[in-house]
Parts: sequence; structure tokens; C-alpha cells
Amino acid sequence: MIPLRIGVMGLGTVGAGVFQVLERNSGEIARRTGRGLQVTQVSRRNLDAARELVGDRATVVADPHAIATSPDIDVVVELIGGTTLARDLVLLALRHGKHVVTANKALLAVHGEEIFGEARRLGLTVSFEAAVAGGIPVIKMLREGLSANRISWLAGIINGTTNFILTEMRDRGLPFADVLQEAQRLGYAEADPTFDIEGVDAAHKLALMGAIAFGMPVQFDSVYVEGITALHSQDIRYAGQMGYRIKLLGIARRRDDAGGVELRVHPTLVPEKCLMASVEGAMNAVMVQGDAVGTTLHYGKGAGSEPTASAVVADLVDIARLASAAPEHRVPSLSFQPDALQNLRVLSI
Ligand code: NDP
Ligand code: HSE
Repeated sequence: MIPLRIGVMGLGTVGAGVFQVLERNSGEIARRTGRGLQVTQVSRRNLDAARELVGDRATVVADPHAIATSPDIDVVVELIGGTTLARDLVLLALRHGKHVVTANKALLAVHGEEIFGEARRLGLTVSFEAAVAGGIPVIKMLREGLSANRISWLAGIINGTTNFILTEMRDRGLPFADVLQEAQRLGYAEADPTFDIEGVDAAHKLALMGAIAFGMPVQFDSVYVEGITALHSQDIRYAGQMGYRIKLLGIARRRDDAGGVELRVHPTLVPEKCLMASVEGAMNAVMVQGDAVGTTLHYGKGAGSEPTASAVVADLVDIARLASAAPEHRVPSLSFQPDALQNLRVLSI
């Protein structure tokens, strides 16, 4: 069978991971999908660095528009980041008949309604497993694994950079700025790390999770956001003396009494005996409370090259399976579709 032809826009931390994972596990992936997944085009501004990674195994271009419009690409993977160029590229790719996979939570938190709407109109898929909690399959868990449940709340450590900073400040007494630099070196932080430390990145992810869990539109603007920049090392020390760890949590809670949902991101005192307290470094964890299943906990690497690539490639595998299915068995779109029956608003806090 003809391989799925993939164009990767952005070959930085995550893009390079995607290329490597697809190459290393090509045999397993072909067995699982019944066809190959082949990266045929990549884009990066630094052409020499891109060629060093991909050699002659894929065409390297500087301008990602060439990938979005190429007639020889089935799926576009957007790994550039930001909300302006990425929005234009994703809409362009959809209008050229391509499914889209992205790890870009900022893009979907801000322009998700428009992008998902366009994908639905065109019968295409926008998949974004990597956009929330890196390698943990949180989107699949909410949409599929827990789809039988009425969810009452979810809470998570969903930003690896800030959890890494809080852990290193506590365990090694290192200054905030030094640990942030280390998180940037390790590829955890956003291009603009203020998104991490001010809680904005966690709010992007919470808006996406909340939309899926509660079947409402993506409402990033209504999320209450407080980051970790006002915390001092003595706050962390005093919390420890009282038996707590400070964690930046994203919390979404159904409030039937008020007819809405609370969406908030802020530093939280977590009792040391709680499992969440032992989530260290760049690890992420998400707890979900459903009426049938009770409380579940999902844990794993929340940032970094290959953990994030794991989620991107899983989306590609889904699309390869979808595209291989007989037409009568195809799901029209794997994209997130808000539940039209739910009219929940985000409550102000
Ligand atoms: P990087 O900064 O490492 O890579 C970005 C890539 O995009 C680079 O190859 C860069 O090329 C290219 N690029 C940037 N701007 C432009 C432009 N104007 N035109 C063309 N190409 C451009 O980012 P990451 O890989 O870390 O992140 C990519 C996406 O994945 C982001 O949306 C991020 O939020 C998300 N994400 C990241 C995670 C992580 O752990 N890093 C985890 C989960 C999601 P060049 O290098 O040549 O400039
Ligand atoms: N900057 C993000 C984080 C990357 O630190 O969690 C993963 O989404």
C-alpha cells in the first residue's frame, strides 16, 4: 500500500523527535497501520541543520507554505509554534485537502474554534494529542477512555517547565533564573518562556482539556491564570515544613450550582501524602473524576523531544488507519467536536 506522505513544518525540538521516532520504529508502525508513514518534506529556516538531520531521505524547504500547498503531501504536521504563521499554515493546509497534526496548544486555545470548524466543514482531521501533557495520551483518555463518564473535575500538573523549576528550587536550592535556563536548554520551555512561568501555557492546555471533558467551546480567555513568578524559595521551604509541596495546577471543575465550569491555573499547596505531590521535574500528571470510573491518575513525561513526538506520531498512526479504512468504516473526522447540547460557561473567579 502507498505510504502516508507526511510534511513536517518546523524541525526543532519536537520536529526532530518526530523524524527520529518515525525512522526508528518504522517497522512496528507499518505493521500497526498496514502501510508506511513516510516523511517526504520538512521545513526549517536553518536549511543546513535540517539537511544534517534528514540527509536525502526527505526534501528540505525553508518556506513551510510549500508544504501546506504541496500536492504530494497527505498530512501536515505543524511544529513551528506561535499563533499567527501557524494559523495561516494550518488553514492553508486544510484548504488544500490535508489532515493536520499539531502540538501547538497556543494555536488551538486561541484559534481552535475557527480551525476545528474549518476542518469539520472540509471533512478533515485536526489532531492534537501532543498539545496537552506531552507524551501522556490525555486527549484520547478524555475523548475515548472516559467517554462513558460524566466528569465532575480534573486537575493536573500540565506544565513541565514550572514543575521542573519548583522541583529544582526545592531539592537543590537553585535560583529560579538558573533552573529556567536549564529548562530552556533541555527543550522543555516555550519559545517565549513567560508563557510557562506565568501559567499561560498551562491555561492553553486547560482550555483544551476543559472543552473536551465538559463538551463546551474552547474558552481560553476566561481561564483564571496565575503563574509561579511571585514564589520565593522560602515559600517552597515553609510549605515543606508544613507538609506540603507547591505545584502549579490546572483545575477544571463542574459547578452545577452555578451552571458553569471553573477553569483556573495557580500555584497550589498539595499535601505531601497526595500522589500529585510526588510528581517531580518535567513530569506531568492529570487526575480526572468521573461518575462511573471514580478517580483516575495519568502520569508521564510532559515535555521534551521524544515524549512529545510519541504523541504526534500516535496521531499520525490514527490518521493512517483512518485513511486505510474502507469508506463505509471511516469516521468522518477525528477532530474535536464540541457537544452542541452543552451550553456551559466559564465562571469568573
Ligand atoms: P522549536 O523552537 O525547537 O522549533 C521550532 C521550529 O520551527 C524550528 O525548526 C524553526 O526553524 C521553525 N520555525 C520557527 N519560526 C519559523 C518561521 N517563522 N518560519 C519557518 N520556520 C520557523 O520549538 P519546539 O519544537 O519546542 O515546539 C514546537 C511546537 O510544539 C510549539 O507549538 C510548542 O508549544 C509545542 N510543544 C513543545 C513541546 C516541547 O517539549 N518542546 C512539548 C509539547 C508541545 P529554525 O530552527 O531553523 O529557526
Ligand atoms: N513548555 C511546555 C512545558 C512544553 O514545559 O510543559 C510541553 O507542552
